[in-house]
Amino acid sequence: MKDIAEWLASLDLGEYAQRFAENAIDLSVIRDLTENDLEELGVLLGHRRKMLRAIAELQGEAASKPQTSAEPGRDRAERRQLTVMFCDLVGSTELSARLDPEDMGQLVALFHHRIAEVIDGYQGIVARYMGDGVLAYFGYPQAHEDDAEQAVRAGLALVEAVPNLQTGAEAPLQVRVGIATGVVLVGDLIGEGGSQEQAVVGETPNLAARLQVLAQPGTVVISASTRRLTGGQFEYRDRGPAALKGWAEPVPAWQVLRTSGVASRFEAQHESKLTPLFGRDEEIELLLRRWRGVSQGEGRVVVLTGEPGIGKSHITLALQERLLAEPHISLHYFCSAHHTNSALLPFVGQLERAAQFERGDTPAEKLAKLEMLLVQSAVEGDQAVALLANLLSLPPSDRYRLPELSPQSRKEKTLAVLLSRLEGLAAMQPVLMIFEDVHWIDPTSLELLTVMVDQVPQLRVLLLINARPEFAPPWPHYAHVTTVALTRLSRPDGAAIIKRITGGKTLPEEVMNQILARTDGVPLFVEELTKTVLESGLLQERDGHYVLEHPLPSLAIPTTLHDSLIARLDRFAPIREVAQIGAVVGRSFSYELLNAVAGIPREKLEEALGQLVLSELIFRRGEIPHAVYTFKHVLVRDAAYSSLLKARRANLHAAIAGAFEQRFPEIVEAQPETLAHHLTEAGLIEKAVSYWLKASKNAVQRFANLEAIAHLQRGIETAGRLPDNLGRDRLELDLQFTLGPCLIATQGPASSTAIATFARGRELCARLGDPPEYLQVMFWLATGSVIRGELPQAREVTAILLGLAEARNDRPMLINAIRGLGMIL
Ligand SMILES: Nc1ncnc2c1ncn2[C@@H]1O[C@H](COP(=O)(O)OP(=O)(O)O)[C@@H](O)[C@H]1O
Ligand SMILES: [Mg+2]
Repeated sequence: MKDIAEWLASLDLGEYAQRFAENAIDLSVIRDLTENDLEELGVLLGHRRKMLRAIAELQGEAASKPQTSAEPGRDRAERRQLTVMFCDLVGSTELSARLDPEDMGQLVALFHHRIAEVIDGYQGIVARYMGDGVLAYFGYPQAHEDDAEQAVRAGLALVEAVPNLQTGAEAPLQVRVGIATGVVLVGDLIGEGGSQEQAVVGETPNLAARLQVLAQPGTVVISASTRRLTGGQFEYRDRGPAALKGWAEPVPAWQVLRTSGVASRFEAQHESKLTPLFGRDEEIELLLRRWRGVSQGEGRVVVLTGEPGIGKSHITLALQERLLAEPHISLHYFCSAHHTNSALLPFVGQLERAAQFERGDTPAEKLAKLEMLLVQSAVEGDQAVALLANLLSLPPSDRYRLPELSPQSRKEKTLAVLLSRLEGLAAMQPVLMIFEDVHWIDPTSLELLTVMVDQVPQLRVLLLINARPEFAPPWPHYAHVTTVALTRLSRPDGAAIIKRITGGKTLPEEVMNQILARTDGVPLFVEELTKTVLESGLLQERDGHYVLEHPLPSLAIPTTLHDSLIARLDRFAPIREVAQIGAVVGRSFSYELLNAVAGIPREKLEEALGQLVLSELIFRRGEIPHAVYTFKHVLVRDAAYSSLLKARRANLHAAIAGAFEQRFPEIVEAQPETLAHHLTEAGLIEKAVSYWLKASKNAVQRFANLEAIAHLQRGIETAGRLPDNLGRDRLELDLQFTLGPCLIATQGPASSTAIATFARGRELCARLGDPPEYLQVMFWLATGSVIRGELPQAREVTAILLGLAEARNDRPMLINAIRGLGMIL
C-alpha cells in the first residue's frame, strides 16, 4: 500500500480519496482516526463501519509493536510481498515449570541462536523474539524471487535442527512452524543486530501465527499463497480449510512434508510462471485422459516426439502444472547430449536431487539422505541401500555392505531396486514419471526404461517420454503406449507467441509476416526471432505499437534459428563471452566452475550472468555462489558454443578439465568420461586417453558394456591423434585389450568386431615385442577363429599360442592351447 488512496480503493471506498487528501489524512495518521473524525469528514455510516473495521485490523497487526516514538516512519512505508514465518517452541510452559529459571533462560537463548542461524542461512531475517517464539521475514529488506521457497526450506530445516540441540532437557526440543505470504505494508527498521523489527502491517503475520498454532509439533504448515508460490518444490498434505481465530471463513492450509526433489530449470523457473502454451489443447487433453486412467490404476506410456524447439518439454511442464493440485508423485529424469554413455546417469541425477545431495555434503551425510529417501519410497533392505549408494559413487560403508557380486549381477540387482522404487512409489500415490530427451539415453538406462515400459500397465504410473523423431524405441508395439508426434504450430498460434513476447504490442505487418514465414511454426524459433527483432533497434515503440522507422533492410531478419541466436548473443557483446564459456561446460554450468575458469572479475561475471538471465537465454537455479545455470534450450547452448574460435574453445576445455581435477574430484571419480571429453577437446591427448580408459573401466564395473565400448572407441580414436610411436602403441593396446572382453560380452567372441579388435591387438603386441597381454590376445583370437570355423587361421594362431604358453610356462594356457589344437586337428 503506497498511499491512502490505495487503501481506500482496497476497501472499495475510493470515492473518499479526494476528501481524505484535502484534509491531509495520510497513512501515518490513519490509525488515529476515530468514528467522530470520520463522521466529520462526511463518511457515511456504513462506510464508517467498514473503515473502522479495516483500521482495527491494521491495529491488530501492529498491536504487538510499541506504539511510541519508535514507530517507523509511515511515509517511508512500502507495500510489498513478504513471506512471514512464526516458529514456536513446543511445550515451553511445562519446560519452564520443570527447569530452573536460569537453565530455562539458557535453553531459550540456545534455541533462539540456532533458529537465527538457520533463518539466516535461507536469506531470512529474525524480526523479533516473542517469548520463546520467533517471528521472521523472508523477502525483506531484500526481495528474492524464491523467498517463499526459502522460507519453507528454512521451516523444514528448523523442525529438523531443533531436536538436535544439546539442551540438557530430558526430551528433544520441538518446534511448530507457520508460514504465510502476502502483500504487507512494511515500515523502517527499528533496532539493530539480531532482532531487527519492522513494522509489518497486513493480515499475513497474523495468518502465519495462526497456522503455527495449527501445526503439529515438528511440522510446518503454510498458507494457500505460500503453497502457490512454492508450487512443485515440495510435497504437501492438504490440511483442508481450518477454522482460525480472527477469520470468518475456514482458511486452506497445507502441511509441508518434504522437498519433492524436482530440479532443473523447469521446476525452478516454470513451476509457477510457465509461459502460456498455445495450440496444444489436443495433446494436453490426451495426456489428462491418460492420467485419469492412471489414477484409476491403468498405467500408461506416452511418447512425445518432435524436432528440437517444437515444445516437447513445454507440454510436459504444462501437464505437471495442471496436476499440481492433485495428490501425486512426480519424478523427472533428464538425458543429456554430453552423457549419452554415462551409465544410468538420469537415474543417478534423479536420486541425487530427490535425496537433496548438496555440494559439500560428506559421504556420511549423503548416505543418511539416501537412507531417508529410500525409507520414504518404501524401498527396503540394507542391500538395496548398498546398491544405490554404490550407484551414486558413495564409498563403501560398514553399515551397508555391498555383497560380493559380479558386475553383471550387481547391475541386475541395481536395476531391480530402481524398478522396485517405482513400484513402491506407485503403490503410495499415482506417479507422473517424465523422461526427457530420450534420444540421448545411455544404453543401461534404456534397458531399465524398457523394463519399466513393459511393467507400467501394472502400476499407477503415467510414463511420459519425450524424444526427437530419430529415437527408435526398442520395445515392441504395446497397446498401453501412445506415440504423439508434435506438429508445428499454426499461424495464429505462432502469432500468439509473438504477441506474448511483445507484451501485447503489435508489430508492423511486414515484420510479423516475415517472422511467421521464417519460423514456420517452430515455437523456439518464433520466440527467439521475435526477441532478435525487438532487440535489433529496427523498430520504435509508439502508442502501444511497434513501428518501422525506415524500410526493412533485406537482410535485417535472420533466416535460421542459429543465425537468430547468434545475432542475439552478438548484440550482448559483453555477455556473449560468458555464455560461450558456459557453453563449453555444457547445457548446465555452475557458478563455481564458471568463476574458476572465466578469468573475469567477479562483479563483471555476475553482471553478465544477470543479463543473460534477464535476456532469458539462460535460467538460474539457486543463489550465487551455489547457483547453477542452464541454457534455455540446448540449441542456444550449441549456438554459443559454435560461435567460439577453435583455439579459444580448446583453451577453455583445458581450463575446465583443470578446474574439475582441482575442485570437483567427486565428478572426476564418478564421471571420468566428462573429463575425458574436455581433455580430448582441449587436445591434451595422452591424458584424455587415460581418462577414456578409466571411464571404460568404471563402466565395465557396472556391467555397462555398451557404454564401455563407446568410451574405448573414443579413446582409440583419440589415441590415433598421437605421433606414431611405441608409446602410442602401448596406450592403444590398453584400450583394445579392455575392448575385447566387452565385445565378447555383447556380440560374442566370434563377432567380426571382436575378431578385428584381437587382430589389431596382435599387431600391436608384435610391434611392442612381447607384452604381457600377448598370450591372452592370441587365446581370444584362437577361440574366435575356432568358433568361426576358419581353420587355417585357427591352426596358425594356436601354434603361436602353444609356443608362447610354453615359453612362459603358463600351464593353464598350455592346456587350453593343446585342447584347441585337438579341436582343430
Ligand atoms: N505451444 C507452445 N506455446 C508457446 N510456447 C511454446 C510452445 N511450445 C514451445 N514453446 C516455447 O518454445 C521453446 C522451446 O520449447 P521446448 O519445450 O523447450 O522444446 P523441445 O523440448 O521440444 O526442444 C520454449 O521456450 C517453450 O516455452
Ligand atoms: Mg526439451
